[in-house]
Amino acid sequence: MEVARTIAEIRASIAQARAAGRRIGLVPTMGALHVGHTSLIDAATARCDFVVVSIFVNPTQFCPGEDLEKYPRPFERDVALCEQHGVAVVFAPTPEEMYPRDNVTWVTVEKLTEPLCGRSRPGHFRGVTTVCTKLFNIVLPDVAFFGQKDAQQALVIRRMVADLNQPLETVVCPTVREPDGLAVSSRNRYLSEQERRAAPVIFRSLQKCREMIEAGERNADEIRGAMIGVLREVSALKVEYVSLADAESLEESVQLQGQILAAVAAHLGPARLIDNILIDVPDQ
Ligand code: PAJ
Repeated sequence: MEVARTIAEIRASIAQARAAGRRIGLVPTMGALHVGHTSLIDAATARCDFVVVSIFVNPTQFCPGEDLEKYPRPFERDVALCEQHGVAVVFAPTPEEMYPRDNVTWVTVEKLTEPLCGRSRPGHFRGVTTVCTKLFNIVLPDVAFFGQKDAQQALVIRRMVADLNQPLETVVCPTVREPDGLAVSSRNRYLSEQERRAAPVIFRSLQKCREMIEAGERNADEIRGAMIGVLREVSALKVEYVSLADAESLEESVQLQGQILAAVAAHLGPARLIDNILIDVPDQ
């Protein structure tokens, strides 16, 4: 397995792979790899025969006061994991390589980036869409893989690819969870033991939502209220949003129908946790 540090290096290996007729898969990450990331890598190796994993803690998607400096960077371990999972090249550029000068060119997706995480993280999605476009332009993948864990991100990227005719396919892989339901995340390591034990309440609130819809409830306020009731079981949890939105437009629903994205963001101690599930609301 190769580790490419510069854009010139990764372009050279990609050119060789393409000349050899390989189907190129890209898994963009910020490192600190866990089973959520390796599930994307495994999906990529199943569908492509030359898999690139990018490891880049992208400064432009962090807001002031967020965890850019303390974001974990266990690089050697990440490289070993990639090797074990059959990755062809790890692309791990420096911030200077990706942003050699003050960046003035951005890719912005409107509307879909405004609700949910967009409200509390101004500029975050602009950083994500810009870095993903740069990665797509550098790697020229046939397919890029993202996780449903970051549902809004996946939706925004799919929309960007469609709107800009970016020449690749996107695949969104299911959320990998701990046995107690907590969505696996690099930020879970910020939790104390007690906070970690309490954190699955977020998934329980989403399950509550699913149960109520299955029982016939369609009123979003009723369901949101019940979800907030579940979340209140953990007094240390500071809820940022509980959203029941149309899964395509992300507009908040009043009477649920079609496909719904149920999503929660909450702060627990030092960690900001997000989770979601997609629910197909049966016609009544
Ligand atoms: P990062 O948080 O490292 O996540 C990389 C990819 O792994 C994302 O597509 C994310 O949705 C997916 N992922 C994380 N946890 C997961 C889980 N428990 N189950 C399934 N997939 C999971 O997301 C980013 O990095 C960045 O914003 C990036 C897209 C790399 C742009 O900088």
